[in-house]
Amino acid sequence: MGSELEKWVLMVTARTPTNIAVIKYWGKRDETLILPINDSISVTLDPSHLCTTTTVSVSPTFDHDRMWLNGKEISLQGGRFQSCLREIRARAQDVEDKKKGIKIKKEDWQKLHLHIASYNNFPTAAGLASSAAGLACLVFSLAKLMNLKEDNSQLSAIARQGSGSACRSLYGGFVKWDMGKEDNGSDSLAVQLADEKHWDELVIIIAVVSARQKETSSTSGMRDTVVTSALIEHRAKEVVPKRIVQMEDAIQKRDFPSFARLAYRDSNQFHAVCLDTYPPIFYMNDTSHRIISCVEKWNRAEETPQVAYTFDAGPNAVMIARDRKTAALLLQRLLYNFPPQSDTDLDSYIIGDKSILQDAG
Ligand code: ADP
Ligand code: DP6
Ligand code: CO
Repeated sequence: MGSELEKWVLMVTARTPTNIAVIKYWGKRDETLILPINDSISVTLDPSHLCTTTTVSVSPTFDHDRMWLNGKEISLQGGRFQSCLREIRARAQDVEDKKKGIKIKKEDWQKLHLHIASYNNFPTAAGLASSAAGLACLVFSLAKLMNLKEDNSQLSAIARQGSGSACRSLYGGFVKWDMGKEDNGSDSLAVQLADEKHWDELVIIIAVVSARQKETSSTSGMRDTVVTSALIEHRAKEVVPKRIVQMEDAIQKRDFPSFARLAYRDSNQFHAVCLDTYPPIFYMNDTSHRIISCVEKWNRAEETPQVAYTFDAGPNAVMIARDRKTAALLLQRLLYNFPPQSDTDLDSYIIGDKSILQDAG
């Protein structure tokens, strides 16, 4: 393996966008494999605004696996990172770089150590799905480094074991995470419902109400919900299955009123379930509630909804305008009512296209 001096370093960099669920995943039936209690659907965002960039490197001089997140070293000991590393190493192939004179045999990957450096260009652990972009990018970049033969669907099942929502970031456009039926998780995968060119008049505006790290991580929040909420079973079994069918239909037909109603009703139910958790979880704050009121008031003054909104596990608002003209009007209203860095406690706005092609290299 490698050159005479064994001093080489081989590296790969990849960029992966985040995704925002319009029908939410909340609750696991298997904590280790990360198997959800319901299907979910998301929109992959434009990575020039919200993405993770990860560089993975391997060298015989590295004596253990190490990772840096946003410039700070973090532990790789957590079960999720270990699951992803194990699954990827198990599928690693021979790699040859003739120019550098490097030859790595597939069995060498079990002994070689990795250095991983990852950056999010948006707030981490603040409810903008950093775990989705982060873990998808980790899996994607390692798969490139180790020359895996698996397709994006199979990689989504590995990313899922890092963070559930990450499986949906392996595709652009509209993506569904099929919860699957098998106990071993083999059919709990992401599938692309429509590619990035579909419905490209939609515009996404994100109001960063707070970039601060949330108090309750998604992982622990949903664990508490499954144990204590009396409403979650009704949501997972009765409500979401119907909404999934309706949402798929709305996306195919570009039916904005149905899309918007389903998205905001589902977001609101997810936050109701958080409130029904004991002790209660408050991801939204007063500013989030005021943004909802502002959009609701506008939508109700029109014949049909003009703007959809959804909030992940954090206070930040993701709004989807039906077209560019509506997006301009929305931004005008938001800037008037919620000027950034004022006493409304709102940090900034991010404006992006719905999605683009998966971009990595
Ligand atoms: P979010 O709403 O941002 O997804 P979560 O509570 O789901 O918040 O997950 C946050 C955690 O995800 C972080 O504490 C970190 O462990 C992990 N994470 C975030 N970004 C990355 C990244 N780029 N690479 C690896 N892990 C990441
Ligand atoms: C509210 O995927 O972050 O964003 O699987 O424990 O890592 P883990 O949780 P995570 O949960 C995401 C929850 C959500 C909804 C969604 O993205 O579907
Ligand atoms: Co997350």
